[in-house]
Amino acid sequence: VKTTVSVIKADVGSYPGHSRTHPKLLEVAARMLKEAEGSTIIDSYVTHCGDDLELIMTHTKGEDNEEIHELAWNVFLECAKIAKEMKLYGAGQDLLADAFSGNVKGMGPGVAEMEFEERGSDPLLVFMADKTEPGAWNYFLYKIFADPFSTSGLVIDPSMHQGFTFEVHDVMEKRRIRFNTPEESYSLLAYIGAPSRYVIKYVWKKDGTIAASTSTQRLNMMAGRYVGKDDPVMVIRAQSGLPSVGEVIDPFRTPILVAGWMRGSHHGPFMPVGVCDANCTQFDGPPRVVCLGFQVSNGKLIGPADMFDDPAFNRVRDRCCELSDVLRAHGPFEPHRLSLEEMEYTTLPGVEKQFKDRWEDLPE
Ligand code: F6R
Ligand code: MG
Ligand code: MG
Repeated sequence: VKTTVSVIKADVGSYPGHSRTHPKLLEVAARMLKEAEGSTIIDSYVTHCGDDLELIMTHTKGEDNEEIHELAWNVFLECAKIAKEMKLYGAGQDLLADAFSGNVKGMGPGVAEMEFEERGSDPLLVFMADKTEPGAWNYFLYKIFADPFSTSGLVIDPSMHQGFTFEVHDVMEKRRIRFNTPEESYSLLAYIGAPSRYVIKYVWKKDGTIAASTSTQRLNMMAGRYVGKDDPVMVIRAQSGLPSVGEVIDPFRTPILVAGWMRGSHHGPFMPVGVCDANCTQFDGPPRVVCLGFQVSNGKLIGPADMFDDPAFNRVRDRCCELSDVLRAHGPFEPHRLSLEEMEYTTLPGVEKQFKDRWEDLPE
């Protein structure tokens, strides 16, 4: 039987403000999933990144399974209830629907899932980010699976030499397309270089082996009013004909700028941190990413290892702080503040409405 890994997340309230998930919620979520082990799911692990509650689950039911999604939804509902009792900030903010309708996609939570035949040994890396958007993974997925200057296995390992297939989703038009690399690398980059619109959803080996899966929901598009960026998750399998664990995490030593941060309206450096530092503080950020490593064994999650809790990532964190200084100095100016086009999905339109009638046409 095949194993499915489902990572489902939601912000159901945090403290103080939007900075971190309360331990009580982590406790309740972990207990509810433990109770489902042996029936609905095989194994589980609960953690957080910033204000996002992250449910990592294994089972044999495949992607988009109603029972699994309902379990996650019920965990979020229960945690939102407790968050409301404690008057945590933004309690229930990502639960956009009143009742479960078969699949949590489109209801607020973010989902990354993959189903695979377990290999002799199956290393799995789960990435979870706060204060940014799903397109933030594009750069890293390209580096990991298509850049031979980053992943030496693309050159050296005969079983990776054929390259990979990327599925890209257009989150504005709701359409998808596949590109093969290395042949179509430049075409792939033409799209994924615009990560607010084009988001990598899956990566496969050319023989169909699943390698990576991300969450691509856009909460702000779903709600019709601004409800925050949909802080993304991603699952990557590693080793034996796929990029090694080290090749998967090494690209995160480069401090790139992503959209999100304060009020979902600013570019900021994407800082890799251990779970102990996965709390958004300075200017509600900067955007952070954690990575937990597991071995999957007959559906059991052996681990986790906190991959960025490591001095090898100290320098990128320092560089992120330097970039943060440069960007913060811009105050309300672009390119720290997002471009006007991106601001359409924030609270700025509210400000514009206020001055609609004060604008006058210039004389010819
Ligand atoms: C970013 C985020 C925060 C809030 C900010 C204002 O995704 O969640 O930066 O946007 O703290 O929050 P409100 O409007 O709730 O006071
Ligand atoms: Mg929040
Ligand atoms: Mg968040």
